[in-house]
Amino acid sequence: MKRSLAIALLLQGCGGAMSALEPAGPYAARLESLWWFFFWITIVPAAVVIGFALYAVRSARPDRPAAADGRFLAIGTVLPLVVITVMFVRSMAVSNEVKGVPSTPADLRIEVIGHQFWFEVRYPDHRVVTATEVHVPVGSEVELRVTSADVIHSFWIPQAQGKIDMIPGHRNAIRLRVDEPGTYRGICTEFCGVQHALMGLLLVAHPAEAFDAWILAQQRDTSADATSPGARHFERWCVECHAIRGAFPAGATGSPGPDLTHLATRRTLGSATLANNRGNLGGWILDPQPLKPGVRMPASPLSPAELHELLDYLESLR
Ligand code: CUA
Repeated sequence: MKRSLAIALLLQGCGGAMSALEPAGPYAARLESLWWFFFWITIVPAAVVIGFALYAVRSARPDRPAAADGRFLAIGTVLPLVVITVMFVRSMAVSNEVKGVPSTPADLRIEVIGHQFWFEVRYPDHRVVTATEVHVPVGSEVELRVTSADVIHSFWIPQAQGKIDMIPGHRNAIRLRVDEPGTYRGICTEFCGVQHALMGLLLVAHPAEAFDAWILAQQRDTSADATSPGARHFERWCVECHAIRGAFPAGATGSPGPDLTHLATRRTLGSATLANNRGNLGGWILDPQPLKPGVRMPASPLSPAELHELLDYLESLR
């Protein structure tokens, strides 16, 4: 009873929104089955070896010194070799499958670029650039290409795909597919600096029509009023680092920070750490450092009136 309680408590840590043991698509399911395969193929030989050890301890007698037994030596050498070889072969096969080799044609291509400390998301065939949210149609075969703009990051949405490194100057590819509509959480899994632990993202899986509507909306330039007072504050404080398509006659094309063309449609701020609402956005603009120490965005000393005008403008970026 006590033991089963302990195991239940131990397994509790594996549940929840970011569990590779709760796959929502075929690639994550392949990795889940590999996980269980590794679990059993290591647990069973471990139990056998511990069984032998206990047997040896029980049958040992002080008056009869133990003699080296060739059979046990053979088991101790051959068994690990077999287990490790089987694990290697099986993991290589699954690794190729989750990368889409041999290749099945993809329905959609998505590029994700790691930055300190956020994910840029591009749809190269649709002329869409966004951040922190990867939107996909349910049941679609997605080719995910990843790279980095600065240091090594790693991209992982445990319920949807295998973990993949984002390496500067190099492109890695992996497959992603989700068969159940919903929102899934992902995270950076390579230490990339002080904000590594809070470098999150969301995967939103829509039914096909809802995805088409989303991508159409994202393709449009913003309709926000570029002559409003808030737009002037944006030009003064934000334009060096953030892009807004269609914002100004010359366009806002700053690149170190996330593209804000459709900021108001996003669910979160600061790489999926804060809900996207007026209070959080205001606090973030005035001084993001207390919210995410180490974030690259500086504080902006706006007066309360200016802040509200800027917030009005940012909240109109739909
Ligand atoms: Cu990016 Cu850790």
